[in-house]
Amino acid sequence: MTLNRRGFLQGAGAAVAASSLSACGGYNTEATDGVPRSAFDEDSTAEEVTEGLDLKGKLAVVTGCTSGIGFETMRVLAMRGAYVVGTSRSLERAQAACNKVIGITSPVVLDLADPESVVRCADSIRSLNSAVDILVCNAGYRGGGNDIELVNGVEKHFAINHLGHFILVNRLLDRLVISWQGRIVIVASRTSYRDAPESGILFDDLDMQNDYSDAMAYGHSKLANVLFALELGRILRGSRITANALHPGVINTEIDRHQNSITQFAFGVLTRFGGKTVEQGAATSCFVATSKLLGSTSGRYFEDCNAVNVLGRNHLTNMPMADKLWLRSEELTADYLVTPRRPEAVIK
Ligand SMILES: NC(=O)c1ccc[n+]([C@@H]2O[C@H](COP(=O)([O-])OP(=O)(O)OC[C@H]3O[C@@H](n4cnc5c(N)ncnc54)[C@H](OP(=O)(O)O)[C@@H]3O)[C@@H](O)[C@H]2O)c1
Repeated sequence: MTLNRRGFLQGAGAAVAASSLSACGGYNTEATDGVPRSAFDEDSTAEEVTEGLDLKGKLAVVTGCTSGIGFETMRVLAMRGAYVVGTSRSLERAQAACNKVIGITSPVVLDLADPESVVRCADSIRSLNSAVDILVCNAGYRGGGNDIELVNGVEKHFAINHLGHFILVNRLLDRLVISWQGRIVIVASRTSYRDAPESGILFDDLDMQNDYSDAMAYGHSKLANVLFALELGRILRGSRITANALHPGVINTEIDRHQNSITQFAFGVLTRFGGKTVEQGAATSCFVATSKLLGSTSGRYFEDCNAVNVLGRNHLTNMPMADKLWLRSEELTADYLVTPRRPEAVIK
């Protein structure tokens, strides 16, 4: 019997990293009908999935470009000719990341926990007076220590991973509209179905006072990422913008920086033997951002460079929940959104 990577992670994850970057659970996936299949898989790298593409003349934005998947995504998009704006909370770190990349890149500051910073970031990008062809919402926060933290009254993972990107997308949407084919790529995680609360988005408990663990809060925010792409896909139907979410794989990046050293060690071992490299980890982002196969694919969830349906109880395709999340997100970020807020009004 061969034990593939996923099988390995499901087994080993239970033993080693159950309380951290959870990789355990009894879920299976199947190919999504109506979406072209690619020949790429979990072993494909970002360079391989973009081979032969010429992205000259395209503007891409990659949030969280300073390490891990975001850095590799920026590197490969720039290598293929795109002009890439890479963001970080620190201009120095973003500049250092850009300096390491061959191609044209610009650093911009973005702190997703601070709505004013998101507005300034969007303004900087807008000042380029260009269409935005690719927006990769990659930056992510994963807490450690199981200490609940709030940002503007909302649980921190949800505020950073979802609401921050919600504002950014809103403020760049009209620039995506003027692209020949604007793509919004949202880096979620399979924790969106493995670790999110059973009832889905906690609309009545967004400060998570009733029950809290870092794993659940992270999964909750990643479910919000997938539902955001689902709702964008619905709302933007008929426009030239697509929006999709994805799980990049399990990769030894800095995402575990807030974990204790034992968990970090366990995660390092787990990913070394059963995870992806960073080059493979950026493949699904780069594929969804650029593949000609996906020109009209929207509102989907991808793993290993293909759209999948997740079998078993989950909320990834729960349209009423996605709609409600959109409305609640609008309420929570109203002071920072451009009007008209509803994309329907932007694309007409
Ligand atoms: N690694 C995995 O196994 C895995 C699995 C599933 C999903 N993901 C997702 O993949 C994405 C990339 O993660 P990664 O693994 O590459 O992690 P990483 O190495 O920790 O990179 C995260 C990036 O996000 C930025 N960031 C962190 N907090 C931020 C904030 N408050 N505002 C703006 N930017 C912030 C960081 O930049 P600065 O610190 O410079 O600001 C960094 O560039 C995340 O969304 C993560 O949830 C990762």
